[in-house]
Amino acid sequence: MSMDVDRVYGGSLFTKEKFLFYQRLPSTQGRARELIRNGTADAGYVIIADEQYNGRGRFGREWLAEGEKSLTFSFVVKKNPLLTIQTAVSVIETLKEEYNLKSEIKWPNDIVIDGRKICGILVEMEKNLAIVGVGINVNETIPPYDNATSIRLEIKRPVSRELFLSSFFPILEENLKRGNIIIETARKHLSFLGRYVEIETKDGILKGEFIDIGGNGEMIMRVENGAMVSLLPGEVKKVIKQKDYREVAFV
Ligand code: BTN
Repeated sequence: MSMDVDRVYGGSLFTKEKFLFYQRLPSTQGRARELIRNGTADAGYVIIADEQYNGRGRFGREWLAEGEKSLTFSFVVKKNPLLTIQTAVSVIETLKEEYNLKSEIKWPNDIVIDGRKICGILVEMEKNLAIVGVGINVNETIPPYDNATSIRLEIKRPVSRELFLSSFFPILEENLKRGNIIIETARKHLSFLGRYVEIETKDGILKGEFIDIGGNGEMIMRVENGAMVSLLPGEVKKVIKQKDYREVAFV
């Protein structure tokens, strides 16, 4: 059954008439970009697709969607450097409030439950606006890719995508207004904070301690030679937890 978009909440920024539902699209990101370019969409628009056959993740990875199994949407907002974190915290709060699920941010753009991915976030720019793409594993009964999970696999019952969206957008609207304070909330939900990590960047591998998240959502690391390094989300391909020195000492 396709989505009943009339049952989705409309707020003050993401108003009901700005929710655009498509049965089948190559990519909700691409559609949002076209609608901005041709002057149809501005801040507050939400593009949702039941089936996405040419969707994109970060670094050119594929993100496909098939009907009720998953939820793929893109929303349009004014640019700000904290959008990935605001979106990630909103997904985490929705999962907690609606399904009592405890999830974490695997910085910069994944949401995980016990290390298994449940959601990916992709932020892109067009003109003076940002397009934020969200892909969530909702009703899959087997993990859709390696090391993944879905809401249904976690709570063991079918999930309404309309309910998820109706809960997520009011939470997101509040989080978009919160400014830098969101970083304090994000810190409580970060995988690997204070741990030793290995980072795959565009320019090679960095190893060190994940110290904090800075005021612009950047990752602050103390690398092996003791220097402090700041990394923006776009610079980081992958973060892997290393055994930390204490763990190594006890082996
Ligand atoms: C990632 O994990 O690399 C980010 C995945 C983002 C996927 C979403 S699904 C909705 C939107 N449309 C796309 O083509 N991609 C994003």
